[in-house]
Amino acid sequence: MIERTLIILKPDTIIRSNIGNVLSRIEAKGLKISALKMESISKEKAGTHYAEHVGKPFYESLISYITSSPVVLGVIEGDDAITVIRTLCGATDPHKAAPGSIRGDFGFKKGNDIFNVIHASDSQESAKREISLFFKANEIFEYNK
Ligand code: GTP
Ligand code: MG
Repeated sequence: MIERTLIILKPDTIIRSNIGNVLSRIEAKGLKISALKMESISKEKAGTHYAEHVGKPFYESLISYITSSPVVLGVIEGDDAITVIRTLCGATDPHKAAPGSIRGDFGFKKGNDIFNVIHASDSQESAKREISLFFKANEIFEYNK
């Protein structure tokens, strides 16, 4: 089924000049980039996006991390896009993410802090909610590849 999913290239990706490397993995997989922009996520929006993690021990550091510098936001479309992108990303913990996955190749850890390169929606419900949090309808484009 054709799905749309939200990706966020996290601050570490921008700072370490890996935007192109990450987007090329997505393009190589044949998925369509339907929307793309840069934004400094506000604390408020970060809290809405990561609401499911409120109260967890890493919550404050997660919000600091995602708001620490600009991110690149994208809407990716394709057959089973939600699962395909999550598989491309690899495990949350960069030390457990398989080599060849985006997080396995570009992620790192510093003490208890995780720098895992990319966020991707984990279900159709999340994708719908997250896309509408960050994109207006007229910022998402339709075209044929
Ligand atoms: P996202 O695509 O960013 O949502 O990652 P995920 O779906 O693979 O993981 P999850 O939603 O469980 O966690 C969201 C984010 O919180 C992760 O990507 C990490 O940045 C951070 N996080 C999750 N678990 C930990 C943890 O145990 N320690 C730390 N420091 N950060 C964590
Ligand atoms: Mg998640």
